[in-house]
Amino acid sequence: MKTILVLGGAGYIGSNVVWGLREKGYNVVVVDDLSSGYIKFIGKESFFKFHANKDDLEHIAKNYKFDAICWFSALIEAGESMKNPGIFLRSNLSENFEVLEFAKNHDIKHIVFASSAAVYGIPDKQVVSETDKTDPISVYGLTKLMFEKVLNFYSNIYGISSVSLRFFNASGASFTRDMGEAHKNESHLIPIVFNAALGLRDCVKIFGNDYKTIDGTCIRDYVHIEDLSNAFILSLEYLFDGGRTDVFNLGNGEGFSVKQIIDKVKDVTKINFKVEVTDRRPGDPDIEIADYSKAQKILSWNPRYKLDDIISSAWKWHKSDTYASLVRSNS
Ligand SMILES: NC(=O)c1ccc[n+]([C@@H]2O[C@H](COP(=O)([O-])OP(=O)(O)OC[C@H]3O[C@@H](n4cnc5c(N)ncnc54)[C@H](O)[C@@H]3O)[C@@H](O)[C@H]2O)c1
Repeated sequence: MKTILVLGGAGYIGSNVVWGLREKGYNVVVVDDLSSGYIKFIGKESFFKFHANKDDLEHIAKNYKFDAICWFSALIEAGESMKNPGIFLRSNLSENFEVLEFAKNHDIKHIVFASSAAVYGIPDKQVVSETDKTDPISVYGLTKLMFEKVLNFYSNIYGISSVSLRFFNASGASFTRDMGEAHKNESHLIPIVFNAALGLRDCVKIFGNDYKTIDGTCIRDYVHIEDLSNAFILSLEYLFDGGRTDVFNLGNGEGFSVKQIIDKVKDVTKINFKVEVTDRRPGDPDIEIADYSKAQKILSWNPRYKLDDIISSAWKWHKSDTYASLVRSNS
């Protein structure tokens, strides 16, 4: 049985992958400092609470031989990275680099890394593929792109093969378990809209309604976390089968405007809430959609869930007692 080290496995996306791996029969060891994750998502089995670093990892490596790493731990707020770049560079690069050295020293030969569409910055095209220009406009995006490049060098120099998965907007909630998105400082549209529906915030702000789109609001690609989880498992299998180091976009290949998401949530919840149009934010492209054909071709990955599944699973999660208790504990 293969043993997978999951860094940041108690978080929104990582916890889904932890369960996906367990269901596939992998032995899973989770490291998470719980800075934004929740132990109740994954349980205490083979869980270690610490900020990922070489010394603590050395300690647990006495009891495990890891075959691969699935890597989610990171600071994730792009806006925050422009206020405190140093913290992001340290966490997402220097500290990650230490962990990479640990992987090298322990002969861990495969890594699946949670990268981001933020590596593209402001794309020249509406439908973005992996060969398009990468020019991040946030320090967060820069750390993801730089770490992809570092992984590439570690592949060439040390033979550590890796897959970097560039997620577009991760969304939705588990269909089978009581877990979903509950970031402490939420910046993602869908949970923000549900929080407005639940009265947990005063209104939803739309940043600009004069974009070149059907209704003037920005269009984005939303991909369900269960599809992302499946992509991690397919990527691991690809690497175990000798697949070479590569990057892949993960999205639905379809775009929805901010206004369409708001209307959809109003429709599903039957709740009206306040929506306010404010100024544009710098750096938001009109339309950004994933071309995921490379993942389709090489990893045999296909997104199975559509916007309806994303919104209905997220609504079930947001009205759950677990979500209410996490919100209370975060406030
Ligand atoms: N949510 C999205 O839409 C999205 C989009 C693109 C990329 N990503 C990437 O996917 C990954 C997971 O995102 P998420 O939305 O699940 O975020 P999350 O904050 O829910 O998960 C990150 C987890 O890592 C843990 N963590 C953070 N730094 C750590 C450290 N140094 N040591 C140990 N644990 C640490 C946190 O406690 C948390 O459980 C991140 O790398 C993020 O950049 C997310």
